[in-house]
Amino acid sequence: MAVIKLYGRERELGLLRRLREPFLAVVYGRRRVGKTALVLKFLEERPHLYFFVNPRKPPRLLLEEYGEALRRLGKTVIAIDLNPLSRTAQAASVTIVDNVTRAMPKLVETVTRLKSWDRERLLGILRSYDNEAVLADAVSHIAKRLTEIAASLPRRGGVVV
Ligand SMILES: Nc1ncnc2c1ncn2[C@@H]1O[C@H](COP(=O)(O)OP(=O)(O)OP(=O)(O)O)[C@@H](O)[C@H]1O
Ligand SMILES: [Mg+2]
Repeated sequence: MAVIKLYGRERELGLLRRLREPFLAVVYGRRRVGKTALVLKFLEERPHLYFFVNPRKPPRLLLEEYGEALRRLGKTVIAIDLNPLSRTAQAASVTIVDNVTRAMPKLVETVTRLKSWDRERLLGILRSYDNEAVLADAVSHIAKRLTEIAASLPRRGGVVV
């Protein structure tokens, strides 16, 4: 169903339609000339995610919004986040609570190992996977560690208010 009624722009649409995927296209022109309308019209013909990167938004917020947009499209989103309570961690399908530089090699290693497993066994893992339980475990693990660390800190008396 055509939602955007576009006048002209046949040549530009033709150029976009002839590109072989994947591609990067730069559309430029004067303000209000119809860049966004052209891109949206082209995207209307295919499954797409239109994500506007507002340079005034902090990267963290953009990432959160991107993850949420992917989830709305029904995509499986894997997030690596040190904070299990962050919006990204909470919205992802699979959250790895870790530092990204430490998690990535482990992720690659695990995926490589699981590649040889049979499909049914892998689907079994997926079916029983519960991200909320994983996040809850991560929060209680962090709480326990913080309590231990607090107990081991030197105390110089002080006043509790
Ligand atoms: N070919 C067209 N046919 C009909 N309406 C159009 C066409 N091109 C643009 N418009 C309309 O003109 C207005 C400005 O277009 P658009 O927002 O796409 O411009 P833009 O180049 O992306 O602007 P900006 O530089 O502000 O991002 C919109 O209301 C849009 O719907
Ligand atoms: Mg625009």
